[in-house]
Amino acid sequence: MTKQYPSVSAEYQKTVEKARRKLRGLIAEKHCAPLMLRIAWHSAGTFDQKTKTGGPFGTMKQAAELSHGANNGLDIAVRLLEPIKEQFPTLSYADFYQLAGVVAVEITGGPEVPFHPGREDKPQPPPEGRLPDATKGSDHLRVVFGQQMGLSDQDIVALSGGHTLGRCHKERSGFEGPWTANPLIFDNSYFKELLSGEKEGLLQLPSDKALLADPVFRPLVEKYAADEDAFFADYAEAHLKLSELGFAEA
Ligand code: HEM
Repeated sequence: MTKQYPSVSAEYQKTVEKARRKLRGLIAEKHCAPLMLRIAWHSAGTFDQKTKTGGPFGTMKQAAELSHGANNGLDIAVRLLEPIKEQFPTLSYADFYQLAGVVAVEITGGPEVPFHPGREDKPQPPPEGRLPDATKGSDHLRVVFGQQMGLSDQDIVALSGGHTLGRCHKERSGFEGPWTANPLIFDNSYFKELLSGEKEGLLQLPSDKALLADPVFRPLVEKYAADEDAFFADYAEAHLKLSELGFAEA
């Protein structure tokens, strides 16, 4: 599928680059890369390919979407981002939140994820219930990522590696703790930890462990644990797809 990206003005492209630099500063100062990746993913991951609703279109700032149980804590991300957004009134929230996710990965040592601007803000937030449930297994992941978003099995495993960043907060999700020893470093340690079994102080959600039990997912976990370059290449491809769900379809 070839994407036809909308052409944006040189002025808009310059604004994107300026916002990118401001985001680098904010994320470095506040150590908020994990939350920025999470807001980008929760914005995009609501896309439903059948109805063409949801997706990365700037609706996360609305109280209706922030009140979804899966989004607990993302009001903090919206609040952290607002002072930068105010400096760039012409930038869409849709582009801005996805740019924040791309910068979060870059600044923590992860791969460069290409960014194409031009998403428009949509008025309608998605209905609640489209994001994955951490207590469920691989069938559920395939329904949410595959049937709903249109992503592949490889994308599911590569994107799960996003849990190399950040942690769970009891008051937000009911779970507690980080997946890796360095939650501010983007590397392949999520997969190494997953294979080595649960350790004290580190966490594995049922949805993480589901990757080990599945005959298609498990070989990819092993590949990414052994080969960080392979993980980075597949992660960048999957993150790019995620960030462009419903955007610039041919
Ligand atoms: C596979 C299905 C997934 C499930 C069930 C899931 C579930 C969760 C849960 C329960 C939390 C804890 C939230 C909290 O308590 O603060 C979390 C955090 C996080 N998730 Fe996921 N997630 C999934 C996929 C992803 C993907 C695809 C990405 C990005 C590529 C991602 C990135 C993150 C990050 C960075 C955090 C940490 C946020 C922080 O430190 O504040 N997750 N996820």
